[in-house]
Amino acid sequence: MRPGHSQSSLGSHRTDRSDRLSHITTAPSDRIRLKENVGWVSGTALIVGTMIGSGIFVSPKGLTEGTGSVGLSLICWTICGIVAMLGALTYAELGTMITKSGGEYSYLHEAFGPLSQKVGSIPAFLFAWIMVLLLRPASVAIIALAFATYVIDPFFEVCEASDAAKKCLAAVLILMLAILNCASVRIAVIVQNVLTVAKLVAIVIIIFGGFVQLGLGHTQYLATGFEGTETNAGSIAIGLYNGMWAFDGWNNLNYVTEEIVDPHKNLPRSIYIAIPLVTILYLLMNISYFSAMSVAEMLATPAVALTWGNRVLGSAAWIIPLSVALSTAGAANGTIFSAGRLNYVAAREGHMLELMSMVHVKKFTPAPSIVFTSLLAIIYIIPGNIGGLIEFFNFAVWIFYGLTAAAFIVMRFTTDYKDAYRPCKIPIFIPVIVVIVSVFLVLAPIINDPRLEFLYVALFILAGVIFYIPFVHFQKQPPFMPILTAFLQLLFESAPPVAEEE
Ligand code: ARG
Repeated sequence: MRPGHSQSSLGSHRTDRSDRLSHITTAPSDRIRLKENVGWVSGTALIVGTMIGSGIFVSPKGLTEGTGSVGLSLICWTICGIVAMLGALTYAELGTMITKSGGEYSYLHEAFGPLSQKVGSIPAFLFAWIMVLLLRPASVAIIALAFATYVIDPFFEVCEASDAAKKCLAAVLILMLAILNCASVRIAVIVQNVLTVAKLVAIVIIIFGGFVQLGLGHTQYLATGFEGTETNAGSIAIGLYNGMWAFDGWNNLNYVTEEIVDPHKNLPRSIYIAIPLVTILYLLMNISYFSAMSVAEMLATPAVALTWGNRVLGSAAWIIPLSVALSTAGAANGTIFSAGRLNYVAAREGHMLELMSMVHVKKFTPAPSIVFTSLLAIIYIIPGNIGGLIEFFNFAVWIFYGLTAAAFIVMRFTTDYKDAYRPCKIPIFIPVIVVIVSVFLVLAPIINDPRLEFLYVALFILAGVIFYIPFVHFQKQPPFMPILTAFLQLLFESAPPVAEEE
């Protein structure tokens, strides 16, 4: 297949595309389906590697600001872990019942799609819309900004580092990762594995150092317990938002279900191991931070782990910025790397520009999707700051986690899925709690501090509906679309993955 051959775009050739791809959605053929090569160990690594990124280094400050005390902070970290676990259990039942890749997208599509093929698929479409245009690039932006903060701050002991320098460095990281991911899948995977090991080493160092501190009798900060505890629910909610960012990624394995060996067994198994493991590591990390600094000191430092390193590691403090840089670079690389999957699943349903699901004809990398995500991430860096981006990320993402848990409840009672085989059946109160938590996480910040940003995100989601009507429902396309798609295909030397097998 030569680039330029396929000129279909969003919705326009949906029938063709569905015909061509229907065998994936219904009964994957051996030739084109993604190979199952994710066992429970790689599955666990995929979840742990996405969850541990920037959050454990940047969130403790925001969370402690919201909670006001050591005691409530540790409780909130535990609550975040429990919420992540309840969410992941809900997704374990969904992922073993519907063994399609694409996570929320596929579940929303299955739950609401059949109501009426078109209107019912709006929630799934909106998820793809917001994920591709907003959430994935925003997460790359946040992680890259955390990277830049930790790389630059150690050089500025006397004065504060300039924001512009951090933003430029964050953009450079994204550009480098984009080039790497466009150039070779193999190298990107090797880089990912090396960086995952680096982040685990960093965490073990911090935990170990903290326990040595405590052993030496530095328990005075932990002993302050609940002193200074915040009572304003809105402020605690903002604290929780920061924690939930550090735990985000608990649903990561559900995006690649089609690639898991024996998903009925291995998907839940990886979830049961990964989420408690990360929760315990995070709690130990926080105890370690509080072995070297008080609540007030944590709030005053721009980079918590750096301050910890300076106090505990002395002349070896350089280990910290290096480890954090490697860890955040790894999380950013993983997020950019997975850019192709959701696009691919959504594009085969006609919900995404087909260009976004194409692969480079020689390198076999999802180049258009990687470039698109990376460019948006760089744009989000320009006006953004980490705290603001995290808030709006959580706001948008929890709307869809809640909707997915609601889809779970709907599927338990609708005829299509009522009696479906559920190898990992969980009690119904679990998704009910997830729905309640999501309503809380979405509404609390708006009530506490109604800012325009939340309205913008809501408008952005609504804009998706406006976009849906002509381009997906009526399958119209702007007249320039075929030419633009062909041009971009040539530019990226890309073709649909299915075509390669033909
Ligand atoms: N928890 C990660 C961190 O602390 C962020 C994960 C973002 N989400 C994702 N699906 N990549 O940096």
